[in-house]
Amino acid sequence: MPSLDPAALSARLEAAFPAPERIPPEFRVDAKSYERMYLIGGELREWKGPVHEISSPICLRRNGALSRTVLGHVPQMDEAAALAGLDAAEMAWDHGRGKWPTMSVSERIDAVEHFVARMIEVRDEVVKLLMWEIGKSLDDSRKEFDRTVEYIRRTIEALKDCDRTNSRFSLDGGTIAQVRRAPLGVCLSMGPFNYPLNETYTTLIPALIMGNTVVVKPPKFGALLHQPLLEAFCESFPPGAVNFIYGQGSQIVGPIMQSGRIDVLAFIGSSRVADVLKHQHPRPHRMRCILGLDAKNPALVMPDADLDLAVAECLAGALSFNGQRCTALKILFVHESVAEGFLEKFSAAVGNLPIGMPWEKDVKLTPLPEFDKVKSMRAYLDDALAKGAKVVNPGGGTFCETLFFPAVPYPVSPAAELFSKEQFGPIVPVCPYRDEREFLDFVANSNYGQQVSLFGRDSRKMAELIDPLANQVCRINLNCQCQRGPDTLPFTGRKDSAEATLSVSDALRCFSIRSLVAAQAREESREMIRQIVAERRSSFLHTDFIL
Ligand code: G3H
Repeated sequence: MPSLDPAALSARLEAAFPAPERIPPEFRVDAKSYERMYLIGGELREWKGPVHEISSPICLRRNGALSRTVLGHVPQMDEAAALAGLDAAEMAWDHGRGKWPTMSVSERIDAVEHFVARMIEVRDEVVKLLMWEIGKSLDDSRKEFDRTVEYIRRTIEALKDCDRTNSRFSLDGGTIAQVRRAPLGVCLSMGPFNYPLNETYTTLIPALIMGNTVVVKPPKFGALLHQPLLEAFCESFPPGAVNFIYGQGSQIVGPIMQSGRIDVLAFIGSSRVADVLKHQHPRPHRMRCILGLDAKNPALVMPDADLDLAVAECLAGALSFNGQRCTALKILFVHESVAEGFLEKFSAAVGNLPIGMPWEKDVKLTPLPEFDKVKSMRAYLDDALAKGAKVVNPGGGTFCETLFFPAVPYPVSPAAELFSKEQFGPIVPVCPYRDEREFLDFVANSNYGQQVSLFGRDSRKMAELIDPLANQVCRINLNCQCQRGPDTLPFTGRKDSAEATLSVSDALRCFSIRSLVAAQAREESREMIRQIVAERRSSFLHTDFIL
């Protein structure tokens, strides 16, 4: 294990930042060619107004000093420019009469297939920007891209499946009917900085493919990486079906919501912002919300747990992408009889995590994108220390610029902020417990209700915990970390953690509503339906079977 003495570790963190000439040529970025580009109404336009600077958490050493790297710029739109994006989406929707919402399902599938083929062409560019904009490792950035492509392909298959099921008529009590899923209208899609590609597209693509028109507002960190894809969107979809706007959320999203013209809000971020957005809509009952919000997923390590397995899973669960996942394990409850052994192994595992720049082989700890993140991590830690905890892992909490070496504070008091607040970063609070009821009480009193992880071998004990927990959270992970995948499983939460459920097939339901054509089964009506179907006059009322 490398030295974790604070002075040596501090020097190691500092040395991890490279001088510009030490960046491998294949990982250098040049965002200049598309930084002012935006897509509205089917046109790729060049923004002439003020721009917003995008800087990377990867600090570079110049003349002996470290500073964030300026990667490029994106448009800093004002209210009028952002509303032009909304106008374009509304025009493309045209009260449901637009080209895109009235297109047949198979034509929409063709458009998305065309898009995905073009998307793959810019994989390397997007992966590079993921690394530079949010500090995600090369491996994880590639995984994020590939997982998104796979998600789109599965979405297409799920829609075919759904359409096949609906390509039939029902006859009940003299009523003949065909039930399908129809789009909802204009959708505003806002993804988070930690999965800026994947979590934007897991709402954007289902919304689009169901026939909605979309305005996308990329996150503050993770905005540039959407730029290489704009051309593919422009080519694949009719004008206005998808539009990208950029700028400060508080300046441009408020007016869009206040206009009352958003039918679906797809937002992954904090519950505080979600509440603000919802309240800005003049008639919130008209707006369907698909929200992925805060979480504080706890793990329970019981006395009979396989400690090596629990350590490995808790490490990956708590510290993958430096703990910046909504599904991350954000607090560990370890039975007092095994706490010492667990902490020893866990601290050693944390000490072995490779630190470096995102492109370095096997790197795990990378720079944190948010401004002042290191400061807020220190503040959480200092608060826990003032309330009785100690940092049990050597070097924990040492930092340099945007690199923060993970800290494991123990025992964390219920009075400490880390006990109940979501830290969303590289701190792993640990609490000893005596009785599993303490864990159940923690979950019941928490503001969040996404997932839990349980580590133990006693099936009777597991069953006793599963039953009450299933009514408090939405996924119980047995002897493994919390996570979203595989994407065919429902991903949701209770309380402040989510609204609506996402999975490949659930998302299609979220972004659509059941709509039907019904008639009394008289001969005239039968004949009319027969004709519409035989002559293929309707995109909605038909019996085509997509192969
Ligand atoms: O940030 C929240 C993500 O949905 C987590 O997804 O569990 O696959 O990392 P993941």
